[in-house]
Amino acid sequence: MPVDREPLFTFAPGQFVSVEVTLADGQVFQRSYSISSSTFEEQLRISVHAAGTVSRALCTPGAINNVIKVKGPYGQFSPNPVDQRRLVMVCGGIGVTPFLSILRDKKIRRPIDLYYSVRNADDIAFLNEIQTALSARDDFRAFLFVTGNVPDRKFDRIGVRRGRIDIDALRDNSTVIDADIMICGSVPMVDSIKQGLIASGVSAAHILSESFGKSEVVGAVPRMVHLVKSQKLFQWTPNGPSLLDLIEREGVAIASGCRVGQCGACSTKVASGSVVGADSSGVCLPCIHVPQTDVYFDI
Ligand SMILES: Cc1cc2nc3c(=O)[nH]c(=O)nc-3n(C[C@H](O)[C@H](O)[C@H](O)COP(=O)(O)OP(=O)(O)OC[C@H]3O[C@@H](n4cnc5c(N)ncnc54)[C@H](O)[C@@H]3O)c2cc1C
Ligand code: FES
Repeated sequence: MPVDREPLFTFAPGQFVSVEVTLADGQVFQRSYSISSSTFEEQLRISVHAAGTVSRALCTPGAINNVIKVKGPYGQFSPNPVDQRRLVMVCGGIGVTPFLSILRDKKIRRPIDLYYSVRNADDIAFLNEIQTALSARDDFRAFLFVTGNVPDRKFDRIGVRRGRIDIDALRDNSTVIDADIMICGSVPMVDSIKQGLIASGVSAAHILSESFGKSEVVGAVPRMVHLVKSQKLFQWTPNGPSLLDLIEREGVAIASGCRVGQCGACSTKVASGSVVGADSSGVCLPCIHVPQTDVYFDI
């Protein structure tokens, strides 16, 4: 229920929101979650896989303050609703969430194939929802890939295969060359399927992808970060919090929105030093970009 009584913002199916939660011990965290409801519903739904600090707290009654701050929508992971090319949606695990919003959207009347990869039969979330969509849409097909044990039971109108989703599996069932392809999952899954599609002649212009995890920072080493105006000095480490998180932890005000490099709200000029990903004028996105040398910001 929006406590400010404002109407829900409009969004496109496939977009995500940034959620700020305060844990019972007062710690504040922000994470991104795809919207899994449709644009026609009065409530905004997110669907969370309990994995780490925030996701487990969101799934545990009493673990967070009753009011959560939701900002957005963000992202370009949305299909053109009227194009007639087949939409091939490929996901791993909780990466299914943006596709639930697309499947529930009455405006999207394109033929759809869903490829959904899970570890075990017990990990199949939203089976009922997928089956409801199969009954409602003549032009929707669903294929389930199980990397662990294939379930004994049969699923109505859902093909079940053992193994991972790869380019051969996609080509066996869908004419990928004439389709628009959307991929959502871990960084390695998204990268390998994208590479397979491009090697098979699919144009990059017809592939949209979104990853829920962080990219590995290859070859980076710890660097010192200086905030000149606020006279703060701290260390950034490759597998630790982002530059944005560290700046905020120092109590220095910095704008932010999506926190995954999509909205540009955190754009900050590097005063001195080098940041991988900064543009030619030295402006970087501290939510995703990483220092290559010790760096100075004029904040
Ligand atoms: C655009 C976008 C959309 C997203 N949409 C969704 C969505 O719809 N649903 C969703 O669930 N997530 C989604 N995510 C991921 C989400 O933002 C969080 O990254 C996720 O919930 C993990 O945050 P956390 O605080 O729970 O984990 P953190 O504490 O930050 O930990 C990060 C990862 O470390 C691992 N980890 C942490 N603690 C443990 C532990 N004790 N044991 C084993 N592993 C551990 C987990 O794999 C965890 O995912 C999305 C991310 C992006 C960028
Ligand atoms: S907060 Fe959106 S790009 Fe950094």
